[in-house]
Amino acid sequence: MVAHVGLISLSVSLLSMPCLPRIGFTKRRPFPMAALSDDPVQEWILTEGKATRITGIRPVGGGCINLANRYDTDAGSFFVKTNRSIGPPMFEAEAIGLDAMYETRTIRVPKPFKVGPLRNRGSYIIMEYIEFGSSRSNQSVLGRKLAEMHKAGKSDKGFGFPVNNTVGSTPQINTWCSDWIQFYGEHRLGYQLKLAQDQYGDSTIYQRGQRLIKNMAPLFEDIVIEPCLLHGDLWSGNITSDKNGEPVILDPACYYGHNEAEFGMSWCAGFGGSFYTSYFEVMPKRPGFEKRRDLYLLYHYLNHYNLFGSGYRSSAISIIDDYLRMLNA
Ligand SMILES: Nc1ncnc2c1ncn2[C@@H]1O[C@H](COP(=O)(O)OP(=O)(O)OP(=O)(O)O)[C@@H](O)[C@H]1O
Ligand SMILES: *[C@@H]1O[C@H](CO)[C@@H](O)[C@H](O)[C@H]1NC(C)=O
Ligand SMILES: *[C@@H]1O[C@H](CO)[C@@H](O)[C@H](O)[C@H]1NC(C)=O
Ligand SMILES: *[C@@H]1O[C@H](CO)[C@@H](O)[C@H](O)[C@H]1NC(C)=O
Ligand SMILES: *[C@@H]1O[C@H](CO)[C@@H](O)[C@H](O)[C@H]1NC(C)=O
Repeated sequence: MVAHVGLISLSVSLLSMPCLPRIGFTKRRPFPMAALSDDPVQEWILTEGKATRITGIRPVGGGCINLANRYDTDAGSFFVKTNRSIGPPMFEAEAIGLDAMYETRTIRVPKPFKVGPLRNRGSYIIMEYIEFGSSRSNQSVLGRKLAEMHKAGKSDKGFGFPVNNTVGSTPQINTWCSDWIQFYGEHRLGYQLKLAQDQYGDSTIYQRGQRLIKNMAPLFEDIVIEPCLLHGDLWSGNITSDKNGEPVILDPACYYGHNEAEFGMSWCAGFGGSFYTSYFEVMPKRPGFEKRRDLYLLYHYLNHYNLFGSGYRSSAISIIDDYLRMLNA
């Protein structure tokens, strides 16, 4: 997952380059080294980060827009992402999500340290660097720790989150709401349905989806739904393990929601039987879990339809149609 490309000399100011070359960067910058105070990332690392020396900066995987770098220092390593084109809110939302998960002291997530604007344009986030292990995390431990996070992460404001964030690149609205069915109908399914109508002119899916939203309450009969802290975009690409084999989750789209909604990406997560067994030992399975499962997949299928196009439309439509039949709606 992580491609460590050659060590880059500190005589260049990395953050002034729009896109790092991937391999064997040796070219000299035509102007002298930037003063320390020109680079807020180095400035933070060398003050609040408690380092006295940065010994190396290496690009980590990544594309051209969000640069990801590992900073090695005498106070340990830091993981830094920068985006040259947008301001701090995206990284602020990521940091607030990481911090909420971190504070549960359950499953391992990188501790966020600092978010801020770059000098001219753009923004950065500095967080704990985690050395990843080579093995896939133990499914049973993953299930238990995720459930512990859901159990520990409580909200006294209902369902939602202090900030809006994104799922993939789609906005995710987290305006507080005391009623889960209303929240999930309006801010999750409803938002995606509207987006499909707006960008594809797909009024069929919009109307059928709205009909489902208006009729879905019976799926939640006989259960009490408590707001739980969710990762929000949990699939195999965002699950890894550290050097000790402990599970680590990354890149969240956090909010407080029904714990079962966490399994909405399970079609891409590869959760095994031992994952669910351990999960339900901590967060017992509630009546109707199976009949709500597809409803929670639907949000992510709709999001994939909106992000990647019509390949995901039929999955979404067939879930909606099955529910409309089941609910006689
Ligand atoms: N805290 C961390 N410590 C070490 N490596 C990390 C950390 N967080 C993410 N990574 C690695 O850095 C890379 C970029 O992560 P990032 O969160 O920026 O995802 P991304 O830019 O959306 O990734 P991609 O460009 O692959 O879609 C990934 O390969 C990830 O494994
Ligand atoms: C950086 O911001 C731009 C502009 O919003 C966005 O298109 C891009 O996806 C961002 N980079 C990443 C990897 O998120
Ligand atoms: C996973 O962890 C559980 C509980 O700690 C342990 O019993 C089991 O042997 C582990 N499985 C693997 C494949 O290591
Ligand atoms: C989230 O987005 C909604 C809809 O655009 C907006 O009304 C709300 O104020 C935003 N919330 C925050 C905390 O910015
Ligand atoms: C987490 O998942 C999102 C897609 O939902 C993806 O864009 C991102 O690259 C993933 N994160 C990592 C660290 O791979």
